[in-house]
Amino acid sequence: LAKALETVIKVGEAVKADRLLDVDTVHVSGVSYLTIGDAGLEFLRDISNSGARFRVFTTVNPAGVEYGNLNLPVNETFIRRQMEIIDYLSRMGASLWLTCTPYEFIRPQPGSIHAWGESNAIAYINSVNDAYTEKLPGPFTIMIAIAGKVPRFGLYVEENRVPKVIVKVNARLTPVKAGLLGRITAGRLKGEVPFIDYDGWDKQLLKSFLASYATYSPTPLAVIKGVNPNWRRYLSMVDKPDLITIDDAELRYEQPSEYDALFIGCPHASLEEVMSIVKVLERHGYRRLMKPLIVSTSRFIKSSLGIELINRLREANVYLITDTCPMVSPILQGLGIRSVVTPSSKAIFYLPRLVNVNAMPCSIEDCLESELSDH
Ligand code: F3S
Repeated sequence: LAKALETVIKVGEAVKADRLLDVDTVHVSGVSYLTIGDAGLEFLRDISNSGARFRVFTTVNPAGVEYGNLNLPVNETFIRRQMEIIDYLSRMGASLWLTCTPYEFIRPQPGSIHAWGESNAIAYINSVNDAYTEKLPGPFTIMIAIAGKVPRFGLYVEENRVPKVIVKVNARLTPVKAGLLGRITAGRLKGEVPFIDYDGWDKQLLKSFLASYATYSPTPLAVIKGVNPNWRRYLSMVDKPDLITIDDAELRYEQPSEYDALFIGCPHASLEEVMSIVKVLERHGYRRLMKPLIVSTSRFIKSSLGIELINRLREANVYLITDTCPMVSPILQGLGIRSVVTPSSKAIFYLPRLVNVNAMPCSIEDCLESELSDH
């Protein structure tokens, strides 16, 4: 505890924080053995063996493989070390949610203080709930979970949350276009907080936009008109903003035709997203897809589907992977998949860089329809 507090204070001094804040929840990132390796594993082993325990409610990001599943196309050492990492986190008191969408299951209050390490989730609760968190590195979130405190800096300070640029969106968004909008918006700004002027958001569009925006921007907050509970107050505080317009023409993309698999679930697919796939398959009598559809989701969503539906999906060549982030997992390569189509701009950024899998944008419903009608 003393070491954790000392770390939090030292970081606070480095970032010129004026004081420490009590934290409501922590979400730990950097859970996959693929990304943290032996150094990360030893760090967690040392802290866990020291007897340190988390003082606040702490959830964890997805890992490199499904927890407890030993029948995966992944080498045994990887699986064993991954399980060790998860067990150390569990011993320290983490709730093993193993998902990057904790916001699907907890709704933080506006103004409440959190210390989250997963960028899409950070951007989501900052922007949608107006809860406060900075983008924090994985090992630091461990220290914060033990100390129960975070330095007050950056987006923990209200004046740093006021938008500086108004972004007017002249387009009709789909999940793919919302992802492209996130990338383009981040690219047109220099890290300022934007005010996004667009009507017609739903949860899927917000997830897609914010995951992408947080991938490309150093600032994981966008004040969204009609969504952020305090958007009118923020707008009244905006002083001489710049104005950017993004048109539909900038959000165009080509539907790819050559790929090994379809992929959704970056961030983890919600129940609505899974059910939208089920609807398309139902319309086609659960005909088997020629190319597999990989769905990355949380264990909570999978268990809510029921075994009968899961088996039916498997027969249709649709596979649910839980507890796992395919971007930091050897699982796609283990399945022999070299290229995917996906609506996720975040997956398109990370898949080639981290696991050498090519990824192209597509509307999953459109890709499914064309797969099924080609039969
Ligand atoms: Fe989640 Fe991994 Fe994407 S943590 S947001 S599935 S990169």
